[in-house]
Amino acid sequence: MSDNKVILTDQASGKSLELPVIKGTEGDPTLDIKQLNGGLGYFTYDPGYASTSSCSSAITFIDGGKGILRYRGYPIEQLAENSSFLEVAYLLMFGELPTRAEYEDFENDITNHTMVHEKLNTFINGFHYDAHPMAVLCGVMGSLAAFYHDSLDMNDPAQRLLAAKRMIAKMPTIAAASYRHHMGWPTAYPKNSLDYCSRFLDMMFSVPAENYEVSPVAAKALNLLFILHADHEQNASTSTVRLVGSTGANPYACVASGIAALWGPAHGGANEAVLTMLDEIGSVDRVPEFIARAKDKDDPFRLMGFGHRVYKNHDPRASIIRKACHEVLAELGVDDPLLGLAMELEKIALEDDYFVARKLYPNVDFYSGIIYKALGFPTSMFTVLFAIARTTGWVAQWLEQADNPGRIGRPRQVYTGETERNYVALDDRA
Ligand code: SDX
Repeated sequence: MSDNKVILTDQASGKSLELPVIKGTEGDPTLDIKQLNGGLGYFTYDPGYASTSSCSSAITFIDGGKGILRYRGYPIEQLAENSSFLEVAYLLMFGELPTRAEYEDFENDITNHTMVHEKLNTFINGFHYDAHPMAVLCGVMGSLAAFYHDSLDMNDPAQRLLAAKRMIAKMPTIAAASYRHHMGWPTAYPKNSLDYCSRFLDMMFSVPAENYEVSPVAAKALNLLFILHADHEQNASTSTVRLVGSTGANPYACVASGIAALWGPAHGGANEAVLTMLDEIGSVDRVPEFIARAKDKDDPFRLMGFGHRVYKNHDPRASIIRKACHEVLAELGVDDPLLGLAMELEKIALEDDYFVARKLYPNVDFYSGIIYKALGFPTSMFTVLFAIARTTGWVAQWLEQADNPGRIGRPRQVYTGETERNYVALDDRA
């Protein structure tokens, strides 16, 4: 809390109300408006919640103006350079970097929950072969509540932690199984001798007929991308997980709701949409045509992978991924013309007043798909990869809220419908 106050005066009634100011450890001061309706009889109106804090959290800090992203105080650049995805998962969930013993215990816990009930593989194989893997992920994550009855009591911290670890462990297994079902390949079971990212790549791409060696370059690239996508404050899918969590719903339902929210092309679905857009643009000489379309208010086309609600400077994750694109494609010996096209598109956009004036920069989704494609993932799996990484952020934020449960989330509205009127019998209607 801050000792600063803000006094609101209603000119209509002449009444005033003193609103407390909340000051976090970092970030803009925040008005506590809990007493506003009782005190002055007003609600606030903030569609899209651009100016609204829904909670307090100690997990992730973003400074959109400076392009800063920190997990538990550690700059994303340092974690990207030095950490591993599972170490970042531990950091997000428990607030501190683990000691070696703590890390090994955590990694063992995750490793020992990678298998799924065999009936889940039956469930996955029941989907039509061309089901979008995000549709499979939504359904299967929610269905975990039907299999794991020993981790549904939200009032039991041990059950909450067990559910959190299960979801982190099983997401890659479910994701790989949905891909293999689509390909008509048999299920590949997790190899617990491998690290998290290598195990996922093995489950995705190994074939029974021959020995499969996971590329260390690919595993390292995936580790980096998962770190960068792990958490991001109160984005749409995380806010959804928190809102569903505030009802006391089980953890699998909460994360399934996060997966559904992430799928939207305005959110995590953008990484798939960027590759579709780059394929449609096709060549550098068509870039001006698409830039013009992005600026045309009568054209619904938007430059996918550009813009961000919070970042009004470079998204630090995009800068890291852009650099990694060149390194990973070179190490894999992949020459993808889409990288050059993306770089040219970014260059032209960032020289255009429309984008400069609106502070629209490439976001985390603009370059990530180029690396995913180089690693062999189809575009339909890109948002699934985002979901695997973001599961750690979702569960960390859900655990934080569950540890100190507040009131059920229940926003109000500005009603614009009909005032009271009487029912008219069917035969009396015009
Ligand atoms: C993610 O919140 C998070 O943290 C999300 C995320 C995470 O890690 O969880 O960072 C992940 O979702 C990244 C965003 C991925 N989405 C896309 O790349 C889709 C394309 N981007 C946009 O749809 C848009 O920029 C959003 C959704 C990301 C942000 O939307 P806002 O904040 O509501 O911005 P806006 O729609 O109010 O745009 C402001 C102006 C508008 O023009 P004017 O009305 O002022 O004339 O900028 C324009 C918009 O038309 N604009 C764009 C644009 N993005 C915004 N114009 C063209 N192309 C774009 N991409």
